[in-house]
Amino acid sequence: MTQANTQPEVNIGLVGHVDHGKTTLVQALSGSWTDQHSEEMKRGISIRLGYADATFRRCPGVDEPECYTTDEECPDGSESEPIRTVSFVDAPGHETLMATMLSGASIMDGAVLVVSATEDVPQAQTEEHLMALDLIGIENIVIAQNKVDLVDRDRAVDNYEQIQEFVEGTVAEGAPIVPVSAGQEVNLDLLIQAIESEIPTPERDPDEDARMFAARSFDINRPGATADELKGGVVGGSLVQGELSVGDGLEIRPGREVEEEGQTEWRPLETSIRSLQAGTQNVESAKPGGLLGVGTGLDPSLTKGDALAGQVAGEPGTLPPTRHEFEMQVDLLDRVVGKEDDESGESDIEEISTGEPLMLTVGTATTVGAVTSARDDECEVSLKRPVCAEEGAQIAINRRVGARWRLIGVGTLS
Ligand code: GTP
Repeated sequence: MTQANTQPEVNIGLVGHVDHGKTTLVQALSGSWTDQHSEEMKRGISIRLGYADATFRRCPGVDEPECYTTDEECPDGSESEPIRTVSFVDAPGHETLMATMLSGASIMDGAVLVVSATEDVPQAQTEEHLMALDLIGIENIVIAQNKVDLVDRDRAVDNYEQIQEFVEGTVAEGAPIVPVSAGQEVNLDLLIQAIESEIPTPERDPDEDARMFAARSFDINRPGATADELKGGVVGGSLVQGELSVGDGLEIRPGREVEEEGQTEWRPLETSIRSLQAGTQNVESAKPGGLLGVGTGLDPSLTKGDALAGQVAGEPGTLPPTRHEFEMQVDLLDRVVGKEDDESGESDIEEISTGEPLMLTVGTATTVGAVTSARDDECEVSLKRPVCAEEGAQIAINRRVGARWRLIGVGTLS
């Protein structure tokens, strides 16, 4: 059998309004369900970022788009040929989980915006997620018009036109809109064709310093494991540049908060890489793409319960500084997006003012900061929890409007 290179080479975000079918679409394409946490199963919504890998394949001698598949066997019984393996990053669509969506955006190379054909366009988070892609600079976008099995032809055409009108003037203008049914697995070949043409694997420079954004961290030991059996802490996330190998040293920043003589400070963690898991496979070295699980020599109590989510890992001495405060150039939106009509709060976005609290997403980290000085398009913030970030990093800026944090603009760390 022809084996695909099974480490995924590109991260594709699945974004869009709650219940429009992101998780179902990932499942249809990859065969795995990304909502795996018990609370997610109970509530039926995605809470954390989910990753699932799929190998896109082609049936030889068959015309486009019918040749595209994720099955190893073609309808005529012949074997399909692997094209590439992709990793889907399933972002939660619920409005209260926007910070998780934004932290996911930092590791996406492109995105599929899922829009349900059963509702008017745009729904609140359809608009808010698209705006986030725009602000963060994710330009390679495919639109999946989902649940077409639930509407008649006229409604589907009407909805399609609404989508076209909605994306006019946005980063998704001109993006292919592919009618699909994730539930009934209809038109997935067309969707794969669109992803193949619109979301190429980015060119990567293997000589760049390795940089991994942690999205999760775990203690994988069973309760009651003896000292001999204990395994070191595991950090899960995405490598955004460079390569990591088993045996390499690893630094993680900001690290951990230590208290000494009434003073607290953040100290980077240093360890080594004991194992690497790319998707479900153990590998000796890994390149960008997909979810990487890095087994370390760290005390598992340090990695338990996502304690290191939002941190940055790489070769010791190569990471950007830990910042407790920073200055950023600010680019504000004109108005608040993703607000329901009956929600309270202003729709216009006022200038940022000194003293106001902001929620900032930097890489996969989310932190709250107080504005210590603001003028024109620049402001300085002092953070509650430090972040590891380099000059030029993109920062999603959220302000409390009415009852929740709203995306109001983007900052560039200066
Ligand atoms: P969040 O992750 O919570 O934002 O939701 P989601 O966008 O991932 O939606 P999910 O995949 O959980 O789907 C929501 C509901 O729509 C589920 O009950 C699915 O079974 C249903 N659904 C998804 N896609 C289709 C489809 O193409 N056709 C039909 N009939 N139902 C669908």
